[in-house]
Amino acid sequence: MKKGFFITFEGNDGAGKTTIALACKERLEQAGIDVIYTREPGGSKIAEQIRNILLDPQNKEMDARTEAILYAAARRQHLMDIVAPALEQGKVVLCDRFLDSSLAYQGVGRDLGIEAIEQLNHFAIHNLMPDQTIFLSVNEEIANQRMHQRGELNRLDQEKDEFHRKVRQGYEILLKRDPKRIKKIDASRSIEEVSNDAMEVIQKIIYG
Ligand SMILES: Nc1ncnc2c1ncn2[C@@H]1O[C@H](COP(=O)(O)OP(=O)(O)OP(=O)(O)O)[C@@H](O)[C@H]1O
Ligand SMILES: [Mg+2]
Repeated sequence: MKKGFFITFEGNDGAGKTTIALACKERLEQAGIDVIYTREPGGSKIAEQIRNILLDPQNKEMDARTEAILYAAARRQHLMDIVAPALEQGKVVLCDRFLDSSLAYQGVGRDLGIEAIEQLNHFAIHNLMPDQTIFLSVNEEIANQRMHQRGELNRLDQEKDEFHRKVRQGYEILLKRDPKRIKKIDASRSIEEVSNDAMEVIQKIIYG
């Protein structure tokens, strides 16, 4: 039985997911909350092996459906290895990317369709949906700036602007479909302002 809280961070490349999730982790720890940070794809041994295939810049010929299935496979393994056990122990799990990344990137970005990717992922996720999802929203210019500032680019970072634009639109569609679970935060502001808003969302979920 799940006792903890499952919170996911979503948004385009360079939106600040890792930065904000880690800032929230620190603040929750300071408040004495039992919290873990983990990330997708990867996060556990087998899932990291799948991640390496997915993010290898040399795998340019990867078929879009193969990519979607590999993401779902990595997601399943990471859920079983890391997320489910932590939730059972009553922990707060901050997860850097989850289902919505597949819906936005593969469903919309790669034109496979949100419903098809949702079906595929239903098999992987079963009943372990996030309690809350924090969607960090930035415009194209800021995302590009931050992506380059972070350094080395992986296979998906190197996609064309058009792809990232579709991903951004994808997240907006997901937000409209599920406004209760997904909370949008303007992530173009300072790290402190964005983490304050993210912390507010997390505290509401934890304390009610
Ligand atoms: N609110 C912010 N203000 C200024 N800089 C930021 C902010 N958030 C993140 N950054 C910087 O932008 C860069 C990208 O941030 P980060 O790696 O957290 O993004 P990400 O969403 O995790 O990207 P990816 O999807 O590629 O993993 C980093 O150099 C980070 O320090
Ligand atoms: Mg990141």
